[in-house]
Amino acid sequence: MTGYPPPPEFAARANVGPDAHAHAEADAFAFWAEQAGRLQWDTPWDTVFDDGEMPTARWFTGGRLNVAVNCVDRHVTAGRGDDVALHWVGEPGDGRTVTWAQLQDDVCRLANALTALGIEAGDRVVLYLPVLVETVVATLACARIGAVVSLVFGGFSADALRFRVADTGAKLLIATDGQFRRGSAVAVKATADEAVAGLDHVEHVLVVRRTGETDVPWTPGRDLWWHELLAEQSPVHEPASFDAEHPLFIVYTSGTTGRPKGLVHTSGGYLTQASWTHWALFDAKDDDVYWCQADLAWVTAHTYVLYGPTSNGTTQVLYEGSPLTPHPGRHFEVIAGLGVTVYYTAPTLVRTFMKHGPELPAGYDLSSLRLLGSVGEAINPEAWRWLHEHVGGGRCPIVDTWWQSETGAAVIAPLPGVTVLEPGSATVPLPGLAAAVVDDAGRPTPPGVEGNLVITRPWPAMARTVWRDHARFVASYWAPYAEQGWYLAGDSASVDEAGYVWIGGRIDDVLNVSGHRLSSIELESALVSHPRVAEAAVVGAPDDVTGQRIVAFVITRDDAGADDTGLTEELRAHVARRVGAIAKPREVVVVTDLPKTRSGKIMRRLMADMTAGRGGGDTTSLTDPGSMTTVERAWDAHAALRDRT
Ligand code: PRX
Repeated sequence: MTGYPPPPEFAARANVGPDAHAHAEADAFAFWAEQAGRLQWDTPWDTVFDDGEMPTARWFTGGRLNVAVNCVDRHVTAGRGDDVALHWVGEPGDGRTVTWAQLQDDVCRLANALTALGIEAGDRVVLYLPVLVETVVATLACARIGAVVSLVFGGFSADALRFRVADTGAKLLIATDGQFRRGSAVAVKATADEAVAGLDHVEHVLVVRRTGETDVPWTPGRDLWWHELLAEQSPVHEPASFDAEHPLFIVYTSGTTGRPKGLVHTSGGYLTQASWTHWALFDAKDDDVYWCQADLAWVTAHTYVLYGPTSNGTTQVLYEGSPLTPHPGRHFEVIAGLGVTVYYTAPTLVRTFMKHGPELPAGYDLSSLRLLGSVGEAINPEAWRWLHEHVGGGRCPIVDTWWQSETGAAVIAPLPGVTVLEPGSATVPLPGLAAAVVDDAGRPTPPGVEGNLVITRPWPAMARTVWRDHARFVASYWAPYAEQGWYLAGDSASVDEAGYVWIGGRIDDVLNVSGHRLSSIELESALVSHPRVAEAAVVGAPDDVTGQRIVAFVITRDDAGADDTGLTEELRAHVARRVGAIAKPREVVVVTDLPKTRSGKIMRRLMADMTAGRGGGDTTSLTDPGSMTTVERAWDAHAALRDRT
């Protein structure tokens, strides 16, 4: 294989050496027990892995620990209290440096405050917060008292937030007065109020002052200011121990229906894999300045900001703003300014930087960088090489990490001091993990032939269930290969002659836009809730920067024409209100018919192929094969009009 072997000087100092895979393969459960031993347990476990209730496997049964103690107190006890835990960079240019001792102080104060508000172990707390130190504090304070946290992306609408608050049955919502969005302050407390209106289980709304909004709408008795509440509390808090299987957080993700799924992750196994994979993949060292640029509400940041790096005592950068505000070189300026050593990013952002040319990173001193990471979608080899050369100076390995909200932590990824890298491939399963690419009957596909990606052995960070819907958990992931006991990931992939995995696209109706997971059906439901829309089909069309872009085909109730830009804007605004700005369709195409099977299922695949220029799909299963011709004509007319303007 040609590839990129690890630079010898990197390999010589790497946390994980070449025998890691073989060592783990000898006994995977013993390997995970060894990694669990990196954590601080109050009571040791009796059984490493208990599959009595598969697919709800239980890890480290009988063991008890406190996740927040592992992620904060341990480092203070070890004498690192004055070391920096967080370099926070605010969008308007403000900033804050937080040591481990200060983080412990705040986490304890909030833990005391939450208890004073009546929050008990097992209660749910929803966070609707941007990337703030308070977001980290709140997450870890919940862990400290055993409350189950769910972080909701600050760009989601009141409706999307309301769904999550209602579904979790949260007692407390933590929000801000406002948020900065691309340079301007936007009020958000009213959105939070709208989301909780009439939900009796929400006892309090705790408000972090961020933008200094005036006239913040206020419900006396229910609403509380964060700074007032924390000032009253003691910075000393006695942590309790929780069962290894105690739920830690619920992360919502899109699946194949209109209802997002709340994946439940638990404590001991999750933290074991989050901690070990962060240490191994990002080669975590005490003198690193590590930066994972994902928003804290996405699963990426749960594992590789909130829990993994904190458990390893790694100094991190937290960046509140949008990457291109106030200028496109902002990330590089932060890397140079803070001496970032490890930068974990996303292909869509790399492609955005590429548009500005190599002069953009060349304008900054990026010599502190030693390792790069990528996540969210397959990184195209061109973007990989650009990142390697122009950001990494040709010397930094790139860890392309394949994983999902469901897997909880990385599954397929290179070890930076060991694996020969191939641009575009996430390479091979990490030590202790096992995956395969198989056909529908479970037979491995020959090299180079696409099949379904499955995980063939249980892993500690696996989601345990879908919140309040275990049947959906079983049906979505475990039923297809129930006989073998494999997990169906929902991605297509192929394996090459060398055993490297190449991830293809989703095999279900899930879109990936800028690394964000969105469901066709959820977007279609949002569209048909608009009075002018009778039917809708949403597909992901290929896009140079965002990977996929959202194209909506709609049948209107009125006689809107193909070039009705008013309708397009109306529908974009409507979807933003229903779901959030990230879900807005880029293009809206008015059609008079949609291709459907005899059972009434919309054949999105045919339309997706058409937008990708791959025509001529099999239309024999359609009720009316002519329907596709109608759609093709509408698409051609739309594309001609789009390209002219
Ligand atoms: O399709 C795969 C893609 O993102 C999906 C998981 O999305 P989510 O649960 O939001 O988690 C994203 C961050 C972990 C996967 O099913 N995906 C994620 N990382 C990669 C990827 N596809 C290819 N290569 C990757 N490195």
